[in-house]
Amino acid sequence: MAATQLFITYFAMISAIMLSAFGELSVDFYDEVCPQALPTIKVMVEEAIALEPRMGASLVRLHFHDCFVNGCDGSILLDDTPDFIGEKTAAPNNNSVRGFDVIDQIKAAVNLACLGNVVSCADILAVAARDSVVALGGGSYDVLLGRRDTTTASRDAANTNIPSPLLDLPDLIANFESHGLGLVDLVALSGAHSLGFSRCLLFRNRIYNETSTIDGDFAASLQAVCPPSGDDDKLAPLDESPVSFDTAYYQDLVESRGLLHSDQQLFKGDGSLAGELVQKYSGNRDAFWADFGTAMIRMGNLSPLTGSDGEIRENCRVAN
Ligand code: HEM
Ligand SMILES: *[C@@H]1O[C@H](CO)[C@@H](O)[C@H](O)[C@H]1NC(C)=O
Ligand SMILES: *[C@@H]1O[C@H](CO)[C@@H](O)[C@H](O)[C@H]1NC(C)=O
Repeated sequence: MAATQLFITYFAMISAIMLSAFGELSVDFYDEVCPQALPTIKVMVEEAIALEPRMGASLVRLHFHDCFVNGCDGSILLDDTPDFIGEKTAAPNNNSVRGFDVIDQIKAAVNLACLGNVVSCADILAVAARDSVVALGGGSYDVLLGRRDTTTASRDAANTNIPSPLLDLPDLIANFESHGLGLVDLVALSGAHSLGFSRCLLFRNRIYNETSTIDGDFAASLQAVCPPSGDDDKLAPLDESPVSFDTAYYQDLVESRGLLHSDQQLFKGDGSLAGELVQKYSGNRDAFWADFGTAMIRMGNLSPLTGSDGEIRENCRVAN
């Protein structure tokens, strides 16, 4: 009897903690209403990556840029309207974020598989990010579901809330803190740069002006791609293996081969806590994957719309 009561009390406590930590999101949100939703997203992501391996990186980044602007509410997917200028042309996104067509295709496939409009665009972004990581060789994690979509977006909010690659460590930490994320989240989530590419425009300053913190051979090889002016859109990989979700990003940082200024800020060889995490992840794939999954779930929980707030968009580009 006492044991049962203890168990019930314990269960109630855990439930309360889970509720406060994760809002109303849950892993089984679509199990009843559309069991085909998650398998459909997975297949569509795999097909998109088979066509173009970089697409996995682009889908991961879409979820990040969605969540950091008023929460994970699908705001980044909205086209401009007469009432608002959306996020797509904000400085961190313009000519930079990609994957909108793939999200449209996934949404259409999911609506078909579910015989109706029941899966939000915000949830599609969260699941597509996880499926991309897995498709490119990374570890899996359970995505919490039940987000709903916003009906509005703001370019100004995107300009203010998404961190710049020119930030120093204290400002990166402050930016993540403003989103309720800590140092471990910052270092683990930056490991998403194990995938994808950056434009010359955004690493030029580093390869010409940061001679004391960048490996000489690495800088020289990048200077061959990215001239002191012009060719802004030329691409370089964010780590040595841009279509494989591995620890190469952290190994590169330890060797002063980070591509972005913000990347190398995480490891400066000064014994900082961030640097110690970089060192740890560089030699421990499982620790990286575990902390990355935990941090993605935390990021995915930023101010979701739930219950009867927001809507489930029929078309991810426009409010219903
Ligand atoms: C810590 C602060 C961060 C900064 C300053 C930053 C900055 C950048 C920049 C400048 C680019 C290249 C954009 C371009 O070439 O136009 C980029 C690419 C990318 N970022 Fe980040 N990022 C950060 C954190 C994150 C996080 C938390 C994630 C995901 C969890 C992420 C995922 C990616 C991916 C996957 C790409 C490659 C996209 C592609 O190739 O299409 N980044 N980031
Ligand atoms: C976005 O990029 C396009 C194409 O390069 C450019 O014409 C436009 O001015 C940019 N928008 C903003 C707001 O910077
Ligand atoms: C290097 O830094 C100087 C001073 O901040 C700046 O004027 C110059 O444009 C930078 N060079 C490159 C190639 O970014």
